[in-house]
Amino acid sequence: MSGQRVCVSDFEEEAKKVLPKAVYDYYRSGADEQNTLADNVAAFNRWYLVPRVLRDVSTVDMSVSVLGQRLSMPVCVAATAMQRMAHPEGETATARACRAVGTGMMLSSWATSTIEEVMSAMTASQGDGGVMWLQLYIYKDRDLTLSLVRRAEEVGYKAIFVTVDTPYLGRRWNDMRNRFKLPPHLSMSNFSTASLAFSEGNYGNDSGLAVYVAKAIDPTLCWDDITWLTKHTHLPVIVKGVLNGEDAVQAVSYGVSGILVSNHGARQLDGVPATLDVLEDVVRAVQGRCDVYMDGGVRRGTDVLKALALGAKAVFIGRPVLWGLACQGEQGVSDLLELLKEELKLAMALSGNTQMHTHREITLWWKYLPINHYSD
Ligand code: FNR
Ligand code: LAC
Repeated sequence: MSGQRVCVSDFEEEAKKVLPKAVYDYYRSGADEQNTLADNVAAFNRWYLVPRVLRDVSTVDMSVSVLGQRLSMPVCVAATAMQRMAHPEGETATARACRAVGTGMMLSSWATSTIEEVMSAMTASQGDGGVMWLQLYIYKDRDLTLSLVRRAEEVGYKAIFVTVDTPYLGRRWNDMRNRFKLPPHLSMSNFSTASLAFSEGNYGNDSGLAVYVAKAIDPTLCWDDITWLTKHTHLPVIVKGVLNGEDAVQAVSYGVSGILVSNHGARQLDGVPATLDVLEDVVRAVQGRCDVYMDGGVRRGTDVLKALALGAKAVFIGRPVLWGLACQGEQGVSDLLELLKEELKLAMALSGNTQMHTHREITLWWKYLPINHYSD
């Protein structure tokens, strides 16, 4: 663990110095005025942990079971696209770090490494933990979409996270100004044609990625497509991008194995609530019928604990992993994950919690008047 980097923002500060501006902007930005981007982080400060004392916290067990796999901690890696812009080894470095730390990695459909090479990197590396899941974008071309699923199944991915909040890409002003596209030596490696691999030259005046999404991704997506997907794979399907209790109930009735409460790192619709603020509604609506996960703004061990206290089984982190990669590749990502693990361990001990499954005992106070909060 590097002596200088004592918190996630230290990683970001260093990453900002080494990344080209357009890359940092793409990784960092949210949609429009970025109000939700700030709120995702701020929401954690609206809650306080209320410790219990005299509970023998000399041993803390952070391990948790996620989708049937044992993980060393309830902090997993969310899909973030195009990781080779952060480091030449990109997603393969992230996979090795996840293996070393013993956690799960969700690979983006838009990775700059193939489904197969990321899995080989994970299995060939040191450590006996680690699990791979595939994040799926549903293309207008359904055969192409299913070919990604087949490839993941064949090499041992354990679940499919289908992203449901991106019928079109959100307006990210920096990317529009920068006319964001991949540098010429990189492509979305899971696709064989230049246009699908996002390596074609001309996207006009816009964010190249927004143009790509409008061309290739299916905006007609609806609940029947969840049925279509679950029929076509034996892997568990988790919907990524739910913010509403009624949608969560619907998802359960469509047979999903989990719900990831996410606003896509505030990159899609600005003005939606922070994910932490809707987590409880979703948990309450689901009533234990499937696991609920969350992502968005998790930057500290205490954030993880607060999300667990509000009912998440585990959390995912997006941007912090990119900062770790940019700082120091595989080592940077494993340092980053170890940092969160250490912070979580200390937060658990100092709040009097020794096991993950007791998370409902964690006591929280809401900073503001509980308007509607405990209404039922
Ligand atoms: C993302 N996210 C994302 N989600 C997804 O389903 N597929 C993807 O390819 C990507 N790509 C992506 C790139 C970048 C640069 C970011 C920042 C985010 C969203 C991601 O999975 C996750 O929901 C958020 O990143 C979580 O918020 P934090 O941890 O970044 O605040
Ligand atoms: C993004 C896409 C890749 O958020 O999901 O940039």
